Amino acid sequence: MKVPLQKYWDVQKKYLAPFKKRVILLAFLLASGTVLLVVTPLIIENYINLAIQDSSLEDLSGFFRAILRLFTDNDTIFPVLIFLASAYIFLMFIQQAVSLFSVYVGQNLSWSSTNMLRSDLTEHCVKLDMTFHNEHKPGEMIEKIDGDINTLAQFLSQFSIQLVTSLLLIIGVLVTFFVKHWTLGLSFSAFTLLAIIVMYKMRNFSVKSWEKQREASADMFGTIEESLSAIEDIRANGGVSNAMRKFFHYSKINYKSFHRALVRDQLFVITIWGIIALINTLVFAPSIPLFNKGIITLGTIFLVQVYAGILLRPIFVITRQMQNLQKAGASIDRINKLFQTETKIEDNGTEEIIPGPIAIEFDDLSFSYLEDEYVLNNISFKIEPGKTLGIVGHTGSGKTTISRLLFRLYDIKPDNGSIKLNDIAVNDIALNDLRDKISYVTQSVELFQASVRENISLFDERIPDQRIESILLDIGLGDWFDKLPKGLNTIISSSEHGISAGEAQLLALARVFIKSPNLVVLDEASSRLDPVTENLLERAIEKLLINRTGIIIAHRLSTLQKVDEILIIDKGNILEYGKREDLEKDTDSKFYHLLQTGEIEELLK
Ligand SMILES: Nc1ncnc2c1ncn2[C@@H]1O[C@H](COP(=O)(O)OP(=O)(O)OP(=O)(O)O)[C@@H](O)[C@H]1O
Ligand SMILES: [Mg+2]
Repeated sequence: MKVPLQKYWDVQKKYLAPFKKRVILLAFLLASGTVLLVVTPLIIENYINLAIQDSSLEDLSGFFRAILRLFTDNDTIFPVLIFLASAYIFLMFIQQAVSLFSVYVGQNLSWSSTNMLRSDLTEHCVKLDMTFHNEHKPGEMIEKIDGDINTLAQFLSQFSIQLVTSLLLIIGVLVTFFVKHWTLGLSFSAFTLLAIIVMYKMRNFSVKSWEKQREASADMFGTIEESLSAIEDIRANGGVSNAMRKFFHYSKINYKSFHRALVRDQLFVITIWGIIALINTLVFAPSIPLFNKGIITLGTIFLVQVYAGILLRPIFVITRQMQNLQKAGASIDRINKLFQTETKIEDNGTEEIIPGPIAIEFDDLSFSYLEDEYVLNNISFKIEPGKTLGIVGHTGSGKTTISRLLFRLYDIKPDNGSIKLNDIAVNDIALNDLRDKISYVTQSVELFQASVRENISLFDERIPDQRIESILLDIGLGDWFDKLPKGLNTIISSSEHGISAGEAQLLALARVFIKSPNLVVLDEASSRLDPVTENLLERAIEKLLINRTGIIIAHRLSTLQKVDEILIIDKGNILEYGKREDLEKDTDSKFYHLLQTGEIEELLK
């Protein structure tokens, strides 16, 4: 097991290493800020001492006297006062500039380092298998990737530096007090210790509430995301009020948890300030008798007061950092857990598919998404290179599942049959090669809110515009393309200039043409299209299948009439399988019956 602190160190080391120079600069800035914070009140102490006493330059502390002697031999007080005041203003200005610059560098550092973590985590999640993505809503992922990393941002870049500079500041102030008088040093040390203990004890006061709030907000965003992505279905089916009820439910929980966490946070702050005010007043007690006895000056009393104020800052920073440490710990745990979630699809294959149409063989294949709930049973079929298989069956019969298994979105259990491409088991083929050589047009085409070019090239910038345009022309989208206001740069947005379901499918086909795979799997959308678009689609599919092996999950009879073989499945079982030409002639066949009635849904009656 790892030492608890080790995990913080691991993350810091990994994500700060590339930014060493900026870390050093930030440390330097924070240290300079600390030094300035301690030095500037000393000027005022001397200023007061000088101004109220009818004194000469000799009353100044040795250090300041030496500096002043560099500038003036004059013993009169007035120019010295002017000098001290100017020095104070100048140093205050520098102090503000340093603090501004350190905020700039600090933010820059925390964003640079966490962006690296963000992209690592995003890439990891994108590569995880479908089982994982089915279990986690997108909203939840967003909260994890962004929320947890935001929590880490401050911690990652500043924790150690803030801790060290705060400790230095405390030490600097306390040492000055001891130099002034041991009673001051002692009482302030006691005060610091007490304040740290109290704050440390209270640091968890609101942490749990914030955790609950984060969970509630993840739930709420998950729900919003879900409702928005299904908005068409929700509206069309009168589900708006239900969706709103669900939203109200989660936003109520979110509001309550936020409210609670905020109140607890404020209570924490109020208590802390109350205690500090009390102790602050108490520590003035030793100053007054010391002043009366003439041991310390009025300037020193002023210094004590200012330092007391300064002292609060590092104490506060230290306890905040402790709190951050704890929050960061929880975030690091969640992030590590996500990193450790490995894809169940192992990429151990080394074989490659040779170019050209692929031969496919399903041998006695059974599959279940969930333990023992089989959705495919003993499926066997063969497709010769360059041939096309049409699969048809009721909804939920397992058609899409067959295509998912083909390029390993899910894996089959070892003793549940096999899938072979060119006589090689899919698990033995390198995953990249497998997915490179197969194209899959899904049932519901997802378009990105991006340009037409990016939607077709899937953000691959190497593909020349001419190629995309000629493909669009080839698949019959020429007229559609000519009407686009900005050509390939036109943004396809799902709402405003929405495109029809048929056009979306044609665009999805264009993606396949770009990739030029050896095997095309087409999960036809079940939505009905207008005859013109349907015609376009059919012609495009025909072109697509030239010199390629194809599997078409058909929802229309016209598509089925062009395939070489037919597979009819029902509830995961093969009902009929054979050459289309043979089945067409066989008056007893299901397919013959299907052609007679003309309705796919009639098929399984
Ligand atoms: N990710 C999943 N987890 C669990 N069960 C699933 C999952 N996806 C599909 N199923 C189940 O597997 C069965 C087959 O689903 P599949 O999507 O393959 O059907 P289909 O034939 O493509 O249907 P349709 O014609 O409606 O597209 C169904 O009972 C479905 O509920
Ligand atoms: Mg399907």
